[in-house]
Parts: sequence; structure tokens; C-alpha cells
Amino acid sequence: MRSAPFTALGTFAHTPKRGHLEIIEHGLVHVDASGIISDVIRPDQPRYQAVREQAATSGQLIEGGPGSLFLPGMVDLHIHAPQWPQLGQALHLPLDRWLNEYTFPLEARYLDPALARAVYPQLVQTLLANGTTTGVYFSSIHQEASEVLAKTCLDAGQRAFVGRVVMDDPSHCPDDYRDASARTGLDGTLDFITFVRAMTGNESALVQPMVTPRFIPSCTDQALEGLGNMAGDQQCRVQTHCSEGDWQHQFVIDRFGHSDTYMLREFGLLRPGSVLAHANFLSGPDMQTIAQEKAGIAHCPLSNAYLANSVFPLRQALDLGLRVGLGTDIAGGPSPSLFENCRYAISSSRMLEDGVDPARSAEERGRAGSRIDFMEAYWLATAGGAQVLDIPVGRFEPGCCFDALLVDPSGPHSNIHCHPGISDTAKALFQKVLYHLTRSDIRKVWVDGVMVLNQDR
Ligand code: GUN
Ligand code: FE
Repeated sequence: MRSAPFTALGTFAHTPKRGHLEIIEHGLVHVDASGIISDVIRPDQPRYQAVREQAATSGQLIEGGPGSLFLPGMVDLHIHAPQWPQLGQALHLPLDRWLNEYTFPLEARYLDPALARAVYPQLVQTLLANGTTTGVYFSSIHQEASEVLAKTCLDAGQRAFVGRVVMDDPSHCPDDYRDASARTGLDGTLDFITFVRAMTGNESALVQPMVTPRFIPSCTDQALEGLGNMAGDQQCRVQTHCSEGDWQHQFVIDRFGHSDTYMLREFGLLRPGSVLAHANFLSGPDMQTIAQEKAGIAHCPLSNAYLANSVFPLRQALDLGLRVGLGTDIAGGPSPSLFENCRYAISSSRMLEDGVDPARSAEERGRAGSRIDFMEAYWLATAGGAQVLDIPVGRFEPGCCFDALLVDPSGPHSNIHCHPGISDTAKALFQKVLYHLTRSDIRKVWVDGVMVLNQDR
């Protein structure tokens, strides 16, 4: 899809650097015909009036309107598409039982691609409507259903990274939901990579394939090694789960005598752009390894509260220079919204800092210096996620793709209320948006300069 060139006029808020909120009021953002931001002009710049008038007279001006904000679209680094019908279900169980009793039986049903055709368009539309312009997806082990997912993202105009899941270890995967052999998983992955790269309409690689071993416990050594080689040969990003909860973390140590991170590197799966979901139980050396390999972490704060037995030490990871973004982990996390996950990333970092057990003294209750603030949370969901994937989105800067949201809280169903003289500055509005936005506030969504959702229509 190509967009006509246009100029957006309004208040732009973004976090181009971690911890730094920049607000451009009455800004002009010019987007070229390939959806790339070619210019960002502030009202005090000499060419401002001329550019604005030129855009208005040629019918290429898109105005945000009073009280609205343009924000960068969000990058959800971890979504399990086939689990969408299970959102908000079965979260009373620990990870291994949740997988075996609910999740694997549901995913097995995508052998029938009709289920994928029924579920995936609704999932992708819901994510776009919640502001997710880039989605990183696990599909299932099925070729056809995985192809339906890739095609659905492309048709909807969502930037997406999609993986056909590999799980082949007979001792840890159910008989009716497992690759028949390591070879089946490897051949299926290569076929899927080829399919996605050749999809008609995907010439700009809006949708890209990912090599996707589910996690070490579900894969044989042969599959893990083969997928590591394939990621290198095909220059294809990797996604997997890493040291999620006590059970997964210990499982890998018992099997290999080494941590998840160490073994992922051994198998060639830690590469630039590799997305490790959760990674809650990393040692200091594990963190250094991930930073060295330029892999990244999908921090999934809501899911972690249910399945990970701990709070991810986010501040420590960031201070060590790790690349980190946010993930919903649908359906381990019960919300499709990255705004909701921003809120929970902030709250859980505060709980880690102060600790949670009032029976302990204040000194021994928490981990000092663990908190993040609202600006860092938004950075994680936008520029941070983009850095993990090494893609030019998440900021309003020349050279970046115009993946953006227009947030307008003036509708009758909004929870966002500003009060003249008290909380009516753009910075106050940004904070209210971060803490209170619901999907009805997101009026328009663009990916690559193409408007993919318009609630005003
Ligand atoms: N570990 C292996 N598979 C899964 C999954 O589907 N969700 C989560 N949260 N963890 C996993
Ligand atoms: Fe997951």
C-alpha cells in the first residue's frame, strides 16, 4: 500500500530518548509518498507558514484538532495469536498447567484454518484499535493457519513479525499438538519464511517472518540447533520464551546444566533482533550475554503477574544497556492494550522497588532503585520496542515511518478529562492519556503513512 504525501498538523508527543518526553505544539510533520517522515517543523521555524499554506491549498493537510494528540504507534513485542479466544481465561493456573490444560488444546484446533480465518482478523483489528501498529506474533505449528495470520496482518496494513511455532519434543508436547519430528518443524519454518517473503503486496516487507522455537522445554536439541542455523542462513529474526518462571528457568538448568540464555546462545538463537519473552530470571552474566548479542527482551508485566512468579528487574536491565520493549503476551496477559501494559510496567516496578510483604521491614522489603516513570513506560512501548527490532518507528523524526495514533479524548465515552487552569497542558494531557486512555479515544491509526483505522467514518 502506498499513501499520498501529506502533512499532519497538531500536537505531537513522543519519547525519542528513554525518560525524555518531547511535545511539539502546532507542529507540522510531513510524510512522503512512501510513508516516511521527511520533515518535522516547529512553529518558530522560518518555513513553517509556507509549508502549512502549501499543504492546506493542495488538500494535503491533516489536522489533529483542539485537545487531541498525535502519538507514535505502539510496538507489541509478544502476542500469541491463536490464544485470542482464551483472553481473560484460565489464569488461575501455573504456567506448565496453563499450557497443558488450556493453551495447547486450544492451539491444536488451528489445524483447521477456518478457525484462523475466523479469529485472526478480529485479533488484528482489536490490536490496531488499541494503538498497536507493530505486532510480533507467535502463530501455531500449522502452516496454513500461520499463513492466514501473516496475510491477515498484511491485509489490515499492520506492521508485523510472524512466526510459525516449532515444538517437537515428544516428552513435553502433547501428541496432537507437536511437530512430527525436528525435520517437520525445520521444513515448516523454511516454507513459512519463503511464503511470507513472497506474499503479493508485501514488497515493502511490512510483514516479516520470524524463526520461532516455542521455548527450550518444548524443543529437541536437533530442532533448536537447526533453527539457530536457519536464522543465520536466512537472516531471519528469532523469537522465543526465556527464563519466564521458576519452572521454565529450572527446567533448562536441569536439562543442560546451564541457563536458558546460555543455551539459546549455544544454539545460535541469540542474535540481533532476537526477542526473548519475559526473561525474568536472568543472572548478571545472562544480561551481559543478551546485551552483547544485541538481542532484546519483551517485558510482559501483566502476564508476569500471573505466570512468571516474579517481577522482571526492568531498571537493572535498562541500566545494563539491554534492549527492552513491552508485550501483552496475549493470552498470558489478560489485556490487548499496550497502554494497560505501560501502566502495569510502572506499578510492578514500584512494587519491586518497595517490596510487597508488609510483614518485612521497609529495609528488607524491596529492591531499591527499581522504579520506572510514565515517560520510560511510553518509551518502552514505542521507541524501545523499535530498538529491539531495529526498525525505524516509534518516534516523530525524519527517516522514521509514520506509524501513528491520533488520540482525541473529547468523545462522550472518554475517561480522560482535563480541567482548565489545572490539568490542561499538553504534558498533563499526555499523562492522562497514558493512565486513562481507552480504545474509544484512539480516533485514527496510521502504519507506514497509510490510515488503517478511522473511527470517524
Ligand atoms: N511458554 C511457552 N509457551 C508459552 C505461552 O504460550 N505463553 C507464555 N506466557 N509462556 C509460554
Ligand atoms: Fe508468551
